[in-house]
Amino acid sequence: MGLKPTRFFCHPSSEKQEFKSKYELGKTLGSGSYGQIVEATQTSTFRTVAVKYIKRKNVESMLKIQKQNVPAEAVYLNSLDHRNIISLIDMYEFKNKFALVMERPLASLDLHDFISKYGPQNDAVASFIEQQLLSVCLYLDNNLIFHRDIKSENVLVNCYNYNIKLIDFGSATYANQETYYGNFGTPAFSPPEWISESGYRPEPTTIWSCGVVLFELLTASLPFYDEDHVMRATLFFPDLVSHSARDLIRKMLKRDEHERICFEEALQHPFITVTGECGENERVLDDSIYSRCSAYTIYENQNCDSELPLSLI
Ligand SMILES: Nc1ncnc2c1ncn2[C@@H]1O[C@H](COP(=O)(O)OP(=O)(O)O)[C@@H](O)[C@H]1O
Ligand SMILES: [Mg+2]
Repeated sequence: MGLKPTRFFCHPSSEKQEFKSKYELGKTLGSGSYGQIVEATQTSTFRTVAVKYIKRKNVESMLKIQKQNVPAEAVYLNSLDHRNIISLIDMYEFKNKFALVMERPLASLDLHDFISKYGPQNDAVASFIEQQLLSVCLYLDNNLIFHRDIKSENVLVNCYNYNIKLIDFGSATYANQETYYGNFGTPAFSPPEWISESGYRPEPTTIWSCGVVLFELLTASLPFYDEDHVMRATLFFPDLVSHSARDLIRKMLKRDEHERICFEEALQHPFITVTGECGENERVLDDSIYSRCSAYTIYENQNCDSELPLSLI
């Protein structure tokens, strides 16, 4: 999977009325440092979408596309083409803000809320989610995009089949430099070289963040509680974490970035390969996940506000 040829159009503020007639706004899905995310219905199709409002003054980086200055986040999303990355559907520019209309995967929660709600996940589920995350991060690395804010809140997960979608490219940048400075991202998911401000590189940084996500998936807690702890990088595992999972997490959370495992090696680690694998076009799941997924395909198009069937937890 490569990049999409760029076709891009941002509707000007004169089309505000058109936006209002095309999308019926609903409940708030999330609000963050840059603005607000609201669920909406595309009136012509009844499709549910998510609208991310980004205040112009909060945009970290703008890019010029076809003579329009738009948030870089939208340009990255528009050019990426991967089943585990959220799709950008439409975009509007208003006086003080931009509205990015994105796909809103149904039956999904962000991974942070998912873990808060359903607790630690077993190896099969954690491995399947981590495999998708590593695969999409490898795709970004191959296409020279550095997300810079990989964390559970920026991953949406389908509560029934565990398919993920990576969101929030608000801190992303082109990965055309060897080393990066500046504190884009989130301290709890960032490596020692980010904390110490000695310069950080795309692949080792992303691997570290994915390691923190894997630890969180398996334990429902974070591996490090403050910056000193990140700098020491000493890991304490609850008993429930398997030996195979510990081995992979230790290799991803190596204090020295040069000793950290790379994407390809992580994807070949037994914790990932034994419990499930992802091909280019088809997903091969182990029996336990497969039976759960197929039993609940019916829920693909439902929202995740209701309780999960007990057998899934
Ligand atoms: N396309 C989407 N579908 C469903 N929920 C979303 C979507 N995009 C964002 N969210 C929710 O909104 C939250 C904030 O969105 P995000 O893009 O990460 O904004 P911020 O840049 O403020 O962190 C996410 O953590 C998630 O819970
Ligand atoms: Mg976010």
